Amino acid sequence: MKKVDKGFTLTWLGHATFKLVTKTGTVVLIDPWVEGNPACPKEQRVFEKIDVMAITHGHGDHIGDAATLAKKHQPTIVCIPEIGHFLQGKGVRNTAGMNKGGTQTVKGLGFTMVHALHSSGIDDGGHMVYGGDPCGFVITLEDGTRIYNAGDTSVFSDMALIAEIYAPDVAVLPIGSHYVMSPREAAVAARLLKPKWIVPSHYGTFPVLTGTPDEFRKELERQGVSAEVVVLEPGQSLS
Ligand code: NI
Ligand code: MN
Repeated sequence: MKKVDKGFTLTWLGHATFKLVTKTGTVVLIDPWVEGNPACPKEQRVFEKIDVMAITHGHGDHIGDAATLAKKHQPTIVCIPEIGHFLQGKGVRNTAGMNKGGTQTVKGLGFTMVHALHSSGIDDGGHMVYGGDPCGFVITLEDGTRIYNAGDTSVFSDMALIAEIYAPDVAVLPIGSHYVMSPREAAVAARLLKPKWIVPSHYGTFPVLTGTPDEFRKELERQGVSAEVVVLEPGQSLS
């Protein structure tokens, strides 16, 4: 456990999947990919409950278990309408579609959808389906703490607007390179976002994801960015 004395627990389930438990016990699963996720510890693949599911885009490493877990736990699913439409077609209920710049309150938590620079096709059994735009989320907790989950993205200058408008306390940033930012771009993102804590994600899962937290720390230092990097192992939490 990494102690930050905040009223939440953010557990990395490996790759881009996170479980957020807020101080009132609300469970939010972000980008559900557990069964086929080689980085997800076995004991983290089982859930007592899921109240909310937040989905950043349609790639398999982000929605792989969305339909299965949604049918089992009946969470409210916060996502772009195209992903919601796709999941409804798979028999999922309670999709709460939204779009960028908007905020909705679900189970007492604020979900603001923000931009991400990536793609978002959905592989539906070998057939590519339109998944709308990829996105990130700023989640506002009961006590006002804000967690920015960037989703899969490159760095983009409008991250400065995310900082200006939402001033996130925690930023979850992909650093693995190849499909997402490398440590170099992620350090620029950190400079624009100015979070207190950064949790690196989307690295180490496959050989092509070459970015490492050590490199990321070096880049932050080289670029003169001060933020605490909280490196988790899959199954470990920031709380
Ligand atoms: Ni992706
Ligand atoms: Mn991905």
